[in-house]
Amino acid sequence: MKAIEIKPDVFWVGAIDWAVRDFHGYVTPRGTTYNNYLIMDDQITLIDTVKHDFAGVTIDNIKSIVDPSKIVNLIINHIEPDHASSIDKVMGLIPEAVICISEKGKKGLDRHFDTSKWKFRIVKTGDTLNTGKYNLLFLETPMLHWPDSMMTYVKEAKLLISQDAF
Ligand SMILES: [Fe+2]
Repeated sequence: MKAIEIKPDVFWVGAIDWAVRDFHGYVTPRGTTYNNYLIMDDQITLIDTVKHDFAGVTIDNIKSIVDPSKIVNLIINHIEPDHASSIDKVMGLIPEAVICISEKGKKGLDRHFDTSKWKFRIVKTGDTLNTGKYNLLFLETPMLHWPDSMMTYVKEAKLLISQDAF
């Protein structure tokens, strides 16, 4: 499935997993999606990645819109594999990008990846990121689904990137 513009200059760049039949104990007879988003603003910003098997799909979707090397920020709302397990492949394309993540998210990533060369900005509820015309507000939502979880609200687009909450 190709990238979809869901708000002005905000694109879904995720993947569809038609084969998965058990997702967190839920029966998924028609599969599931891994949802991540690309904001094409002055500071091009990627929100989340996808499950590792689908890294090539999201990278192709990103490439259909922009050269990935132009991405400045990577927001990781949640470090569970369906959101973050292709981060190493994505960061291989954007090694200078700043990863915006909760404190617990950073600690979790440190356990699974060599994060020593990556740049981080630890964010908490109320912190913001201006990408140009858009202002992004971070909201920590611990235990929705893991202690690291947070959401990103794109104010001007009235768009809540809610990771696992709904
Ligand atoms: Fe989760």
